[in-house]
Amino acid sequence: MKILFLGDVMGRAGRAAVQTHLPRLREDWKLDFVVVNGENASNGMGLTGDHAKLLLEAGADCVTLGDHAFDQRDMQQFIEREPRVIRPLNFAKSAPGRGYRLFDAPGGRKVLVTQVLGQVFMKRPFDDPFSAIEPVLKSHPRGGLAQAVIVDMHCEATSEKMAMGHFCDGRASLVVGTHTHIPTADSQVLPGGTGYLSDAGMCGDYDSVIGMEKTEPMRRFLTGMPKARFTPATGEATLSGIYLETDDRSGAAQKVRMVRLGGRLQQAEP
Ligand SMILES: [Fe+2]
Ligand SMILES: [Fe+2]
Repeated sequence: MKILFLGDVMGRAGRAAVQTHLPRLREDWKLDFVVVNGENASNGMGLTGDHAKLLLEAGADCVTLGDHAFDQRDMQQFIEREPRVIRPLNFAKSAPGRGYRLFDAPGGRKVLVTQVLGQVFMKRPFDDPFSAIEPVLKSHPRGGLAQAVIVDMHCEATSEKMAMGHFCDGRASLVVGTHTHIPTADSQVLPGGTGYLSDAGMCGDYDSVIGMEKTEPMRRFLTGMPKARFTPATGEATLSGIYLETDDRSGAAQKVRMVRLGGRLQQAEP
């Protein structure tokens, strides 16, 4: 299966990049399944129902969220009506929506998508992601019930992301980090056939501080005194993520390639 995963869409610039590139990529790369992390798509904080629809219409089969899942309050209702939006499995016991779903892909194939939040350096304490994901992986065996298993590991620490990669190795087709908004250069296939990348990076303007217009974050670092709100940077965004090819029988990853299209981080297509 040919799969594309795109990192955190950041504000208007990020949404524009998805709308500009994704319809063409779906066709040119003959993509079977696309996951987009949308946790920052609405003004950099959370995701509205309207912007979730826009990402789905641009070609996402599934939209994942993150620690900002419900920053836009209408997501609390929207996620109950839209099963293609997935929130973190371990967000809160009372959270609306679902933390995993088995999706239909072309040719009768099934794709499991799930997301977990890490614990290291996160602002709010979340439940242990390893014990949260264990029963989901067990009940959706790769190469059995699911032809592909995609895990979005949403957290700060690269160590925690790598640990999740190895924890899922042999059971997931892809473990990909999100949340830091900075792409890492360690895409690989782990020994058990799990594609891995510590962070997909953001779909956003990289002339910024992790997607925010740089003046205010710099002022806060330099003076410790906030003066204005953070606003997403508005320059051309780079579409950032990972492309993956899997074996349909085993669900193992065969090929992984980092993707960075347009904007300041443009690189060659895979
Ligand atoms: Fe994010
Ligand atoms: Fe996040």
